[in-house]
Amino acid sequence: MNEIDTLSDSLLGEIAAAQDEAALEQLRIAALGKSGSVSALLKTLGAMTPDERKEKGPLINGLRDRVQGAITERKEALGQAALDARLAAERIDVSLPVREGPEARGRIHPISQVIDEITTIFGDMGFSIAEGPDVETDDLNFTKLNFPVGHPAREMHDTFFFAPDANGERKLLRTHTSPVQVRTMISQEPPIRVVCPGRTYRMDSDQTHTPMFHQVEGLVIDKKANFGHMKWVLEEFCKAFFEVDSVKMRFRPSFFPFTEPSAEVDIQCSRKGGEIRFGEGDDWLEILGCGMVHPNVLRKCGLDPDVYQGFAWGMGIDRIAMLKYGMPDLRPFFEADIRWLSHYGFRPLDLPTLTGGLTS
Ligand code: DAH
Repeated sequence: MNEIDTLSDSLLGEIAAAQDEAALEQLRIAALGKSGSVSALLKTLGAMTPDERKEKGPLINGLRDRVQGAITERKEALGQAALDARLAAERIDVSLPVREGPEARGRIHPISQVIDEITTIFGDMGFSIAEGPDVETDDLNFTKLNFPVGHPAREMHDTFFFAPDANGERKLLRTHTSPVQVRTMISQEPPIRVVCPGRTYRMDSDQTHTPMFHQVEGLVIDKKANFGHMKWVLEEFCKAFFEVDSVKMRFRPSFFPFTEPSAEVDIQCSRKGGEIRFGEGDDWLEILGCGMVHPNVLRKCGLDPDVYQGFAWGMGIDRIAMLKYGMPDLRPFFEADIRWLSHYGFRPLDLPTLTGGLTS
């Protein structure tokens, strides 16, 4: 085999084995570039005799054309293979269902859902929303609500206290949403109609209690608001919230320092088959505390009890969420377990409305 055939075999072999366009380009430069092996052979033609050139010329030019042709062919084949691989990788099956985007995949926590439901119902009755801080003063959480210092009712609240500050004042985590009533009466002129949802804290933990929980407070103050109005408001609320046409309610006399008279409210339910249903049956379930705002509270908030009167109530949000949606244990509400949330959570784009339905 002569030198040209040897070079031809080795170049064509390498070109056929090149795995990508970069390797192929290297081979092209090594063969056909300025100082490439084929270019070197072409240069030898100049120094040959006419006879030699007549014989070698076609061989060397033929080599160059073969190498050039092989490179072009291999380049096309590599390009096609790359395209095929990309088409295979980017293949989509248009018959598959559309995957939900992140905004549709997220879930609304049942507490947020129930707060939205409650505020929608009371909003429809003309109430506004009021809020207050989680860290409260002893004065607003207790004293202004007619819990005298040293009164045993204070002890029933299992309060989390902070260390006293430089003035000896001991702040606390509010034990109920009732201080928001006080804040509202101090800062707003009657008539007042507010609901105050928010976090509350007590040292308590079992299946139906967590140290942080939620309440919603309601307050109505004007010159005529009476117990009958309160019964109507609470009954309308329960019907709308539990989505039933009628519900029987039982007002049992009770005691709260900030209301007089005070009552605890039970609603009618059935517990047949271990499942609670509202608006039927002859069992009772306690859902809230309420009463006529105590004249001492009105006075401490700067309102004249001979002019103004009103009613208030307080309800555990977690508890009514558990009842409405059949959740047996309160603790997982606050464990941030995504599996629990995707089971019990609500779709973010289905907001509760009275016309469209509260529950999606
Ligand atoms: N604050 C009470 C509690 O946490 C609930 C309550 C009862 C609120 C009667 C009220 C009320 O406004 O009138 O147990």
